[in-house]
Amino acid sequence: MNGIADFMSKDHDRLDGLFKEFQSKKITEPENVKKSFFDFKSGLERHIVWEEEILFPIFEERTGMQGGPTAVMRMEHIQIKKLLSSIYDQILKRNFETESLESQLFGILSSHNVKEENVLYPWIDQTLSLEEIKVTFQKLN
Ligand SMILES: [Fe+2]
Ligand SMILES: [Fe+2]
Repeated sequence: MNGIADFMSKDHDRLDGLFKEFQSKKITEPENVKKSFFDFKSGLERHIVWEEEILFPIFEERTGMQGGPTAVMRMEHIQIKKLLSSIYDQILKRNFETESLESQLFGILSSHNVKEENVLYPWIDQTLSLEEIKVTFQKLN
């Protein structure tokens, strides 16, 4: 069975793909930009809910660390969600000149994802039993 790290890292890649698709649609299919960004935004927001409500609490409960790496990730999620909303607000106003907000978002997201993929997700796979991983998977949907 592939673990949590594999599943969540693939979701990062899928979301990166949606983000790039949105960026190219601004040029090639402006009529579909709003839908395209909405798909990316809602996918990323769902991914964050999985982390904050299902995965991070496992780390926090087992290590007793509330103020450690997951606190940093939660703070970055706040910044990520703010940028998603700011970009979406502009798009709703049909202003597609959102490059500066996009590069801020991309900057935070790239290092954020690397930290999760290298530290948090593998920790969960190594710490949980196979049975616990199965139960955790059932909650990710
Ligand atoms: Fe995250
Ligand atoms: Fe993530």
